[in-house]
Amino acid sequence: MLKIAVLISGNGSNLQSLIDACEKNTIRGEIQLVISNNPNAFGIQRAKKHSLNCKVINNEDFKSREDFDLAILQELKKINLDLIVLAGFMRILTPIITESFEEKIINIHPSLLPKYPGLNTHESVIKNGDKKHGITIHFVNDVLDGGKIIAQGEISVRQSDTLQDLKKRIHSVEHAMLPMVVSKFADGSICKYEKIYKKF
Ligand code: GRF
Repeated sequence: MLKIAVLISGNGSNLQSLIDACEKNTIRGEIQLVISNNPNAFGIQRAKKHSLNCKVINNEDFKSREDFDLAILQELKKINLDLIVLAGFMRILTPIITESFEEKIINIHPSLLPKYPGLNTHESVIKNGDKKHGITIHFVNDVLDGGKIIAQGEISVRQSDTLQDLKKRIHSVEHAMLPMVVSKFADGSICKYEKIYKKF
């Protein structure tokens, strides 16, 4: 059983997709810890509803990024984790975390990286009139959205797509691909050398 931690900051729909896949056994794994930096994140309620071990570590309670990361590290180290999933976690982690869990932390990002690291990816796609958009799941290192790419899911942008449309369409790609990738970690079939690329 893959021992998983999920870090969130908000709605937690990607967390939900992992919870559902673990419950259905499509992921042979168990979410042993959920951490939210945001005490008001809806994802906390999702975790509680499924009786998951959930901790709030509010970044505002810490003087520095490093102190915040040390508090997170302390929680993560309590369990012998196999995989840490950043699912809408809106903080940049320092090497305190990234170097302690090399190739064990993955992030889901709503763009076809290396295009549009950071925030407001859907806005950029619309502003630039892009024909393609998508999601990336990648290993986390200390470069923002810069680690090795594991999987990407592509959609075609329709001329009529609004910001809300893109958000919705991108979310449904995320909810399909994140559990698929995590299940490959659980099966030991994840390939570190060849990225998965899917068109939706
Ligand atoms: C997702 O679009 C993810 O790619 C990005 O933040 C969003 C989180 O959504 N990093 P949710 O909280 O999982 O619903």
